[in-house]
Amino acid sequence: MTTEEKSVALNEERKAVALCRGCGLCESRNNTVYGKGSAGARLLFVGEAPGEQEDLQGLPFVGAAGKLLDEYLAFIGLEEEDYYIANILKCRPPKNRDPLPEEEEACMPYLRRQVGILQPRILVCLGRIAAQRIISPDFRITKDHGKWYERGNMKIMATFHPSALLRDPIKKEDALTDFKLILEELNKNA
Ligand code: URA
Repeated sequence: MTTEEKSVALNEERKAVALCRGCGLCESRNNTVYGKGSAGARLLFVGEAPGEQEDLQGLPFVGAAGKLLDEYLAFIGLEEEDYYIANILKCRPPKNRDPLPEEEEACMPYLRRQVGILQPRILVCLGRIAAQRIISPDFRITKDHGKWYERGNMKIMATFHPSALLRDPIKKEDALTDFKLILEELNKNA
């Protein structure tokens, strides 16, 4: 698919998600949060679920966690055209609680199709919830962050969720190391 075709396909999916009533979160959401970034990106970040600001604005990572993520991306010199960002859940769980297994099950087909359209070379899970869903149910973020996994043509890594870095700044140095690895891998595939 060309970038233009990908963009059209993503927009169709975005419209389908906006109408989704696949789990109970549709009752409490203000907006669905499909994703943002470049349809032509080779790098896809996957977070957990929208928070309050994301739910209000309909865009992922626009709150405090998003601001920190922007700093890490700027640190490795990436701009929005270089990546795409989405979440496991497209709707906000009440009070930002962890997603329920049935909510993840209901929402994963959307992410699978998103990955299918984008065909990223690199997928980076932000935090434990995304890593356990995408890499392995027993993924341990403290032990396994920064390691590369391969799936087909795609390289997958998990790093700390920016919200975890806000709560526990001591992890920030490890996160910076992970972001440097991401840049190195992206440059390899350039
Ligand atoms: N946390 C997430 O996991 N995703 C967002 O979009 C915002 C905060």
